Amino acid sequence: MPEKLKILIFPDPRLRKVAKKVTKFDKSLKKLADAMLHTMYDANGIGLAATQVDRHLRLIVMDLSENKDDPRVFINPTYKILDNHSLYEFEEGCLSIPGFNELISRPDKIDLKWQDLDGNEHNDKPEGLLTVCIQHEIDHLEGKLMVDYISSLKRDRIRKKIIRDFKRK
Ligand code: NI
Repeated sequence: MPEKLKILIFPDPRLRKVAKKVTKFDKSLKKLADAMLHTMYDANGIGLAATQVDRHLRLIVMDLSENKDDPRVFINPTYKILDNHSLYEFEEGCLSIPGFNELISRPDKIDLKWQDLDGNEHNDKPEGLLTVCIQHEIDHLEGKLMVDYISSLKRDRIRKKIIRDFKRK
């Protein structure tokens, strides 16, 4: 059974670190990806970035399938926006911001590049949910959170509520 990792919760400052590029495609990288997938499934999430488990590498795991049987791993992902005017609005959630969903608009025409666990390069122009999800997760690798897209007033309210809730536990 893979290890279950602790997910950092907003406003933990470690969520603001910028992740480093993966250069070693070894066994420990596979082990981390497995542990992240296990952690993501356990938390009922659809995506998780290494930053969220306090490992500052450019590694993302995701499963957007209905039956939770399509685990995907994206290493060193980057994207180019192909059309700034074509937007996809989606109510996003985040395992690091439990209990909150926010409607966020992101470009939906992107050209995505990434590597797999063996270091092979891939390229795709995704559609639908994957397009916005991968942008949300790549933001994590840059130390950026979905609450950065909403008003500071609203963000502050979320921060206070989460701090209060987690003190009570
Ligand atoms: Ni997130």
